[in-house]
Amino acid sequence: MNILLFGKTGQVGWELQRSLAPLGNVIAVDVHSTEYCGDFSNPEGVAETVRRIKPEVIVNAAAHTAVDKAESERDFAQLLNATSVEAIAKEAEKLGAWLIHYSTDYVFPGDGDKPWQETDSTAPLNVYGETKLAGEIAVQTYCTKHLIFRTSWVYAGKGNNFAKTMLRLAKDREELSIINDQVGAPTGAELLADCTAHAITTARRDPRVSGLYHLVASGTTTWFDYANLVFSEAKQAGLILAVNKTNPVPTSSYPTPARRPSNSRLDTSKFQAAFGLTLPAWEMGVKRMLTELFSAANN
Ligand SMILES: NC(=O)c1ccc[n+]([C@@H]2O[C@H](COP(=O)([O-])OP(=O)(O)OC[C@H]3O[C@@H](n4cnc5c(N)ncnc54)[C@H](OP(=O)(O)O)[C@@H]3O)[C@@H](O)[C@H]2O)c1
Repeated sequence: MNILLFGKTGQVGWELQRSLAPLGNVIAVDVHSTEYCGDFSNPEGVAETVRRIKPEVIVNAAAHTAVDKAESERDFAQLLNATSVEAIAKEAEKLGAWLIHYSTDYVFPGDGDKPWQETDSTAPLNVYGETKLAGEIAVQTYCTKHLIFRTSWVYAGKGNNFAKTMLRLAKDREELSIINDQVGAPTGAELLADCTAHAITTARRDPRVSGLYHLVASGTTTWFDYANLVFSEAKQAGLILAVNKTNPVPTSSYPTPARRPSNSRLDTSKFQAAFGLTLPAWEMGVKRMLTELFSAANN
């Protein structure tokens, strides 16, 4: 089976290269690829890539993910997050291929305190959320066999992440103020990639699972509590941190170009039931990533 992976060098794309490998022949591309176009600013180019490879499964991990920057470059975000996705969806349909795509809790307005279900009304607060919603609609409209996974607060060991930023700040500063009124589930790129591979296997056996799913680690936290877990794990591992006081502050203390939802809770019951999987507590993946980070720092 040929599997075409777009966005191979992103957080999720990198992990997908590993998790998709046992399923078939993975042809992985990114924006810099030369043999096949993987540049989402070129919808005709990515459509041509699908036509040439004729994959049975397409996994799209490429996206315009710079949430604040998207506010000032709406057309570019739309091109990457929706126009190219539509072009790929139309080609996938012609081939009868599966299209696996990722979206975000930012399609929701973020009010209230209930976990969002797939059937809840969307109302994005920012341009990123609007363009990601347009991408979802394109996949649903043009490609019969699709899986869309809405996720949140994605981190990976590779590249920058919230935990690394907090540790860098905590080495120099005795006091840190951290947002405590956004609630969500930090979700590892590893978990998303592994769940994607399982879901593809199920979908190929039973196409009736085609649809939209919420996929995040279990439980919820705030950025403030998340940071405190990172500091306590670091101290237990013997790292010397300057920080001795953390202050919970509201989102309004850190104004950003894009508004962010307060309630990023996602209800994952539909995903767990459809694919027979159990989503682990968010702390498990974060602690694992930290252990790897600390051991790399000690070597
Ligand atoms: N990160 C999160 O917290 C989060 C939350 C909810 C949903 N999601 C969704 O999850 C999916 C995976 O996100 P991620 O966390 O893995 O994001 P990521 O690390 O930012 O990966 C996105 C990838 O897309 C690439 N890209 C940028 N411009 C491109 C272009 N013109 N053509 C092709 N590729 C381009 C990026 O390359 P460069 O790095 O070189 O720019 C990057 O490799 C996305 O659909 C995202 O919307 C993410």
